[in-house]
Amino acid sequence: MSPTPALATRLVEAIHAGTLRSTITTLRASGLEDPLLAEAERAIAALDRRQDQDRSRWSQRFAEAGLEHRLAEPEPGSLISVPELIVAPEDVDAALAEVERRGLRRWTPSGGSAAEAVRRTTDRLMLASVADVPERVTIRWAETPPRLAPLAPRIPDLTGRELPAGLWPVHLLRRVARVGLTRLGRAPAAPDLGPLLVTPVPLAEALMRSLGLTSTDVVVDLGCGDGRLLVAAVDAGAGSAVGLEMDPDVAGLARRRIEEAGHAETIRVHTTDAARHDLSDATVIVMFIAAWAAAEQVDAVRRRVGPGVRIVAHELEPIEAGQPGERRPLFTDDAISVCHVWTT
Ligand SMILES: C[S@@+](CC[C@H](N)C(=O)[O-])C[C@H]1O[C@@H](n2cnc3c(N)ncnc32)[C@H](O)[C@@H]1O
Repeated sequence: MSPTPALATRLVEAIHAGTLRSTITTLRASGLEDPLLAEAERAIAALDRRQDQDRSRWSQRFAEAGLEHRLAEPEPGSLISVPELIVAPEDVDAALAEVERRGLRRWTPSGGSAAEAVRRTTDRLMLASVADVPERVTIRWAETPPRLAPLAPRIPDLTGRELPAGLWPVHLLRRVARVGLTRLGRAPAAPDLGPLLVTPVPLAEALMRSLGLTSTDVVVDLGCGDGRLLVAAVDAGAGSAVGLEMDPDVAGLARRRIEEAGHAETIRVHTTDAARHDLSDATVIVMFIAAWAAAEQVDAVRRRVGPGVRIVAHELEPIEAGQPGERRPLFTDDAISVCHVWTT
């Protein structure tokens, strides 16, 4: 029987390579028995069940709404359930309205011209709910990406006042200006830690439990979203937690969740740019952001904190930070991820 640490590394590599299903089959065929392998099998079986259910549910909803569509085949290596519905370009508005009617929202927090700018610069939009185990769906309407795609607005381009939808080119111009300023080394923008995409609560809880938090820990979430990692941190034993969230509406969601969880005394949320906030009290800094952004943030945060601080990210993709961190797989019946930990 292989020791679990070697198996954990193998499973992390399989997750990163998109080969988890085939790796599990190979390991089982070799006669390996290990509780971690059983956990992985259970998580994959639950994910496959969920993918099937989500796909047929969304297809049925679109059929009921009279929306012609077809379902894209899920990626064989995909470890999240995101049904992808392909509609004719002229049906995009109706398809988005139907998804939003079901309580899912676009990743970008904006409406009006900002939402329109995203729409014009991409050929697909993902919408997600902020439920405990989030529901997600992607609407796709063209086979080839539009030529403007590289200029698709990012979060900092979308914040600010709402403008009428017809003014969407303004956001494109802001994007061009920001790219230009960045090239000149003068970008004033906050780093884009990504739109609101939440960690499923069962995964947040498993992640925080795996960190062995104690009452002396102060956990800071960079881009705390609706605050679920903060609540999970205190529930798992952290003495206190601090959320840094740039979007005021999303920060409001976090404060509400914290209040409802009865943690208003131990968790604070600041509506701020995470890159500018003082991190000197933190013992653990967590983030759930795109792998490339996480790599940048890990290196940036290392320069902002003293020794002995744990920097934690969970992400399905490898995070190529300046120094390699420890990695272990996280399997729950609701989601799969990899926990990356760097200790300063
Ligand atoms: C992918 S979500 C993660 C939410 C939460 N941590 C979780 O795991 O459920 C990233 C969050 O970062 C916020 N964000 C993006 N850039 C930011 C910045 N520079 N400072 C603070 N928050 C930021 C977004 O508004 C979004 O809510």
